[in-house]
Amino acid sequence: MQRQTAVNLGNLVLSLSDAMDLASPSIIQHQQRTAFVVWEMGKAAKISHERLEKIFIAALLHDIGALSLEEKISLRNFEIENLEDHCIRGELLLNNIPWLRDLSKIISFHHKEWQYWEESIETPIVLASQLLFLADYLERAIKRDQYILHQHEDIVSKIKSLSGSSLHPQVVDLFTQISNSEEFWLDLVSPRLYSILLNEGPFSKREIDFSNIAIISELFRNIIDFRSRFTSTHSSGVAAAASMLARIFGFTDAEVGLMEVTGNLHDIGKLAIPNSILKKPEKLTKEEMAVMKSHPYYTYHVINTIGGLKQVAEWAAYHHEKLDGSGYPFHCTAAELTTGARIMMVADIFTALAEDRPYRKGMSKEELIQIMKQFSDRRLLDTRVVNLLFENYNEVLAYVAEKQAIAREFYEKQFSFIH
Ligand SMILES: [Fe+2]
Ligand SMILES: [Fe+2]
Ligand SMILES: [Fe+2]
Repeated sequence: MQRQTAVNLGNLVLSLSDAMDLASPSIIQHQQRTAFVVWEMGKAAKISHERLEKIFIAALLHDIGALSLEEKISLRNFEIENLEDHCIRGELLLNNIPWLRDLSKIISFHHKEWQYWEESIETPIVLASQLLFLADYLERAIKRDQYILHQHEDIVSKIKSLSGSSLHPQVVDLFTQISNSEEFWLDLVSPRLYSILLNEGPFSKREIDFSNIAIISELFRNIIDFRSRFTSTHSSGVAAAASMLARIFGFTDAEVGLMEVTGNLHDIGKLAIPNSILKKPEKLTKEEMAVMKSHPYYTYHVINTIGGLKQVAEWAAYHHEKLDGSGYPFHCTAAELTTGARIMMVADIFTALAEDRPYRKGMSKEELIQIMKQFSDRRLLDTRVVNLLFENYNEVLAYVAEKQAIAREFYEKQFSFIH
């Protein structure tokens, strides 16, 4: 089964790109629109299909290093001083993924102005990052409350004014060629852009196999967790606890692998939650809690849109459900919660209780067992899974600690200093 789990490259990249821009109306589809412009310019420049696919994927993920919603919104401001951080983080994150590694430099240089390049525009990395620079600039120049064909001439003249300084004249010329058609502008802001990119974009019909799905789930785990020191190892811990419990429960190797991916992605819907709520040290207000409760809903839709991962989507999205229907946001009943989902529910609570939070220290074994036992006595969590955790407590905890130590080291070495 593990070998059979594969997803389509285009679906995977698009769904994840979309997820990153979900959080606010001011950034929705930012990376998709940027990728669309890069694609149109790349066709005009007659870039080979293989190279264009890479630049296109880089564009879909280019702001991956902007970890918080606040930072993404700040990037829309042309006066912003710090453009470096998200470029460095983006490069570091992609360097960990073998099949995405050669995109990391394009992302690293996507705000580098032409005048600071020493190489010629023919150098592939220079051309690719200049295309991305222009596309990103263009998207940020769009006023989202104005009709596109009432503002496109202004945008074109803004871009032309960068010729010879921020942008190479050839790149600006390429853009002028494609910017003549109304169709270009209408596609660019179309609500259907996702399906335009998916069906007509330069994706090769490649399948991503399970081992690469696992690697990319680790990338997204880091993006989700590294937004705050307190959560910097949370999904690593949940993935470790859930996969170990699944193994002890008797799941197959393939299912254990999927459980690990599930742990990595279970909080991906948190990409839609602002830092002001996510990092708030005090108790959340009723309104803030309502926003927080939407994250498993987004988790479900982001993973399910990838296609081929329905089981992962359900296991992941039900981690705040309870057996009596009192969980959120789906209010599933016991009959709807499969063993995999029940394992995730236990793994998430266990990991969260064991971790430090801004308002409390991580719990001791005794405190933790007492709380988990209450949940199981009140039939909110599956008693079999909770007992399995108690019986194997030290091994599960040791495995969680081992995986969290690896994540912590990466975070401390590479990420904490730019926060
Ligand atoms: Fe950027
Ligand atoms: Fe951007
Ligand atoms: Fe969660």
